[in-house]
Amino acid sequence: MEKKYQLALDAMQNAYAVYSGFRVGACLVLKNGEYIIGANVENASYGLCNCAERSALFAAYSKGYRKDDIIELVVATDTVTPSSPCGACRQVICELMNQEALVTLINPKLINTYSIKVSELLPYQFTGDCLNDENKL
Ligand code: THU
Repeated sequence: MEKKYQLALDAMQNAYAVYSGFRVGACLVLKNGEYIIGANVENASYGLCNCAERSALFAAYSKGYRKDDIIELVVATDTVTPSSPCGACRQVICELMNQEALVTLINPKLINTYSIKVSELLPYQFTGDCLNDENKL
């Protein structure tokens, strides 16, 4: 199995999913050959749960990496149809990854694997440009 898939599946086992029981793992593939993983981390105050995708992206940015360093985000779930990132993660992904970068969805059997570009994952994006003074009426 490719390393990026194995790491995303390993990260899924690190999930702190004591409320939902739904484990998600993520693995970012960087241009320099490094991999950065994340898992979902839940909290009794449900709204404070952090998804695996954001855990991985925030870890990468915390290490100083930026969008141009990231080639791909692999997301692993223990489901027949691999789960796609939630709306909140799509918003974060569209700002912290390049539009051409890939998001790949997998499960432990590597069936129904699916890859999609960031630009396709979230059309009609709300971005920093929307906040520009030149955009104001
Ligand atoms: N979850 C993720 O980690 N990524 C997603 O894109 C969807 C949802 C997590 C959040 C929560 O811990 C659990 O899955 C159930 O929603």
